[in-house]
Amino acid sequence: MAQPKYTTHVGMDDILPGEVEKWQTVEEIIRETAREFNFDEIRTPILEQTELIARGVGQQTDIVSKEMFAFERGDDQYVLRPELTAPVVRSYIEHHLDQRGGTQNLFYIGPMFRAEKPQKGRKRQFHQFGAEILGSSEPVADVDIIQLMMRIYEKIGITNTELKINSVGTPEEREQYVQALRDHFRPHESELSEVSQRRLEKNPMRILDSKEDEDQPFIEKAPVIIDFLGKQSMQHYKRVKELMEHNEIPYQEDPHLVRGLDYYTHTAFELISPDLGSQDALGGGGRYDLLAEEIGGPSTPAVGFASGIERLLMACEALDIDLHREAAVDVYIVTIGQKANDWALSKLKVLRNKGISATMDYQGRSIKSQMKDADRENARYTIIVGEQELSDNAFTLRDMQASEEEALAFEEIVDRLSQHSTADVKS
Ligand code: HAM
Repeated sequence: MAQPKYTTHVGMDDILPGEVEKWQTVEEIIRETAREFNFDEIRTPILEQTELIARGVGQQTDIVSKEMFAFERGDDQYVLRPELTAPVVRSYIEHHLDQRGGTQNLFYIGPMFRAEKPQKGRKRQFHQFGAEILGSSEPVADVDIIQLMMRIYEKIGITNTELKINSVGTPEEREQYVQALRDHFRPHESELSEVSQRRLEKNPMRILDSKEDEDQPFIEKAPVIIDFLGKQSMQHYKRVKELMEHNEIPYQEDPHLVRGLDYYTHTAFELISPDLGSQDALGGGGRYDLLAEEIGGPSTPAVGFASGIERLLMACEALDIDLHREAAVDVYIVTIGQKANDWALSKLKVLRNKGISATMDYQGRSIKSQMKDADRENARYTIIVGEQELSDNAFTLRDMQASEEEALAFEEIVDRLSQHSTADVKS
């Protein structure tokens, strides 16, 4: 085959028919679960102001310092959204969503962009689903958001996971911890990996995230944040763990879990899959009680999570989970001659209006090729139409699976198929 002149950018994939059905299944499960948990959908623009992301996510994070797709146009600075927590909080503030009353329980599904070095499980355009509860500082919110995340994986059949949790405390507590980390790592600076050496001054907590072998002995002995938490932070963390146990959500404490975004306070968590290889985080999240104020809004305690859909699909593949709900069409109208073809086009509308999915030949093919095409399209029924059938109003309805045929008037066919449409089969 000839090399195409134009291709997608590296790390950005087309999602083609055959693959897209899996995405639809996952999206249906997410929406259905969000409904069960009483979360409303929110959709925000793909482009945000660069300043919002820089302030919200944090200047020192990898995302802001080196992974943003950002550009200028006129006086405006645009960035392709690398995540949705800061945009959702921006939207909450901009539209005074607090005035709707109660907490705002929001979920989203959509593409995100990070100029990362593409590798397995790491894309430049990837898709997240996530959820946020805005307006609650209570540990019940932390646990319910974790339950929502876990329930989605459970419904899909991904149960071989590990939920890690930690508390990252408040910024004041963290400041002392960061100093302690610097004091711990500095004497070994020259033995650390290059990335960790760079992080030592700017963001030493991120050293704890390092996967480099040479860093591991020093990470193992590093101080843990829990020793720097005050009474309130400890109390919050303890309640979260109690509620997790009470609700039988298995978890592991990971005292070195820090996450790669700066807005977290108190609870931080990550869902790991041993089936994913080196990029093993299916999803992650936590509490971010100060983000709304940080970006100019009212004090709004909040907690949320986001998960990668590509990684979820990779886990499904590794676990042999079949997400394919076979694409099928209820009816394929097979036509003989121009008159039958015109008639079919008008009757497609009648069928579709009754919720019966229907298609026909658009290429003027022979009956034999049309029957083959109907098979390829997985048609449940075919209606065979020629001049004779039209003048008699008697058409052959063929049940493709049972290989049975019956001659019926068109109205009878519609009645019969209304009882068996794919819409019914799916629900
Ligand atoms: P995050 O950990 O940066 O958190 O991303 C969440 C998930 O998105 C990751 O666990 C991973 O599954 C997926 N992901 C991230 N980057 C990539 C990539 N380059 N390629 C493929 N998948 C990727 C957040 O984004 C926070 N906004 C989560 C949150 C919501 N915290 C509170 N609320």
